[in-house]
Amino acid sequence: MFLCCWLGLVALIPTTLSTNPGVKVRLTEKGIEYGRQLGMAVIQQKLGSIKIPDFSGTEKVSPIGKVQYSLSNMHIVNVGLPKSSVDLVPGTGVTLSIGDAFISLNGNWRVKYLRIIKDSGSFDLDVNGLSIATTISIKSDETGRPAVSSDSCSATVGSAKVKFHGGASWLYNLFTTFIDKALRNALQKQICPLVADAVSDLNPQLKTLNVLAKVDKYAEIEYSMVSSPTVLKSLIDLSLKGEFYNIGKHQEPPFSPAAFNLPPQNNNMLYIGMSAFTVNSAAFVYNNAGVLSLSITDDMIPKSSPIRLNTKTFGAFIPQIAKQFPGLMMKLLVKTVKTPTLTFQPNNATVQAITTVTAFAIQPNSTLSPLFVLNLEASVSARMFVSEMKLAAAVTLNKMDLTLDKSYVGDFQVGPLENVFQGVLKLVVIPAVNAQLAKGYPLPTIGKMKLMNTQLDVLKDYILIGTDVQFS
Ligand SMILES: *[C@@H]1O[C@H](CO)[C@@H](O)[C@H](O)[C@H]1NC(C)=O
Ligand SMILES: *[C@@H]1O[C@H](CO)[C@@H](O)[C@H](O)[C@H]1NC(C)=O
Repeated sequence: MFLCCWLGLVALIPTTLSTNPGVKVRLTEKGIEYGRQLGMAVIQQKLGSIKIPDFSGTEKVSPIGKVQYSLSNMHIVNVGLPKSSVDLVPGTGVTLSIGDAFISLNGNWRVKYLRIIKDSGSFDLDVNGLSIATTISIKSDETGRPAVSSDSCSATVGSAKVKFHGGASWLYNLFTTFIDKALRNALQKQICPLVADAVSDLNPQLKTLNVLAKVDKYAEIEYSMVSSPTVLKSLIDLSLKGEFYNIGKHQEPPFSPAAFNLPPQNNNMLYIGMSAFTVNSAAFVYNNAGVLSLSITDDMIPKSSPIRLNTKTFGAFIPQIAKQFPGLMMKLLVKTVKTPTLTFQPNNATVQAITTVTAFAIQPNSTLSPLFVLNLEASVSARMFVSEMKLAAAVTLNKMDLTLDKSYVGDFQVGPLENVFQGVLKLVVIPAVNAQLAKGYPLPTIGKMKLMNTQLDVLKDYILIGTDVQFS
């Protein structure tokens, strides 16, 4: 019994592991470099905010004896981070190294010795040759968003130089060594916690990843990560679910994402690969919601068109209609029979839709009398584009195929009706579909992200969006 259950469990594991992502996001070296620049600006600001608490003490200085001293009002006047680099650590995360950094601070000193003699002035401290190294791990948090943390950090100060202003010069020499050391320690102690702060300050940004992006009243897209990020030598890959769902009701479609690999391109900072699965899951949702249908009346057909939705136009092809329903307007109901399917081939995005078209005559009392039902199979080409943070599309008709499903007016040939229905598709259905597709579907996004130098390629089984980004 136990063995059987165990084998059953083992058999389950591969299926769980093989959940392919619907969307992949790749951060290239160029993207990581941009991230480094943003990160350094934050770290520079953090280091500029270092506060060194006042400190005081007593030191024996021969031949005077005890000298009481205090340092106060210390503040950073300058921070320079001229050299830094980010290196990826395959499997773990990144290492951030800062070298040759310098910090200058300014403060006041005060001494008291021989019980009654007091002296005071100001001082400058220049810390040079500061190096900081921290490793940052990147994981998926419980909501499927990326999360970073600073796992280890070291900060070492190369040299520190104190310069006193005011007071007796013989004092300076006595003080330099231990004050220098105390300040250096105080600084060094603060650097790593501030760097860790700067790293964890990234998390609120990362938490803005739209793991559940609302599309409209029917659909939302799930962009949570399905596994931890993959860190390789020169890139970081995120695997996102990339699946459309009915709002509130998450029903899985009868198909699943195929594995796909992003090409080794690195001209852009970011690459987003969206699989045909993602688009097909949208079609599944909208088809289930029953919104892939369109009711067409004559007023929707441009005035300039010779095609009119009345029994006179159709009577020219099907005489029974003109005879049984003379002088009436008509209505067409186009409805998908099953989920339309999209295929991505290199430079070719094609959607196959199987629909029925039901034709009605509109009686003077508004009753609809059914005339016939046709099966209409259409193939359309899609051109996709990125607009703002959305993926939009426009389709054009490739070809269509008409067959008779049912007639209420006796037998007739559908061949002669092809031009009429092609006209209806081109003049009404396709523009309506395009108006919908032009609204676009949200792409995965973090914070106030703007896309630049964006291009889109259709490859086998997925589209590839290459883009640079800018955070404002
Ligand atoms: C595009 O792909 C579809 C199906 O995937 C195919 O029927 C069609 O011929 C292709 N078009 C071109 C121009 O290659
Ligand atoms: C509407 O008119 C048609 C045709 O004249 C008739 O068959 C039908 O019963 C009428 N329906 C109603 C609800 O009046």
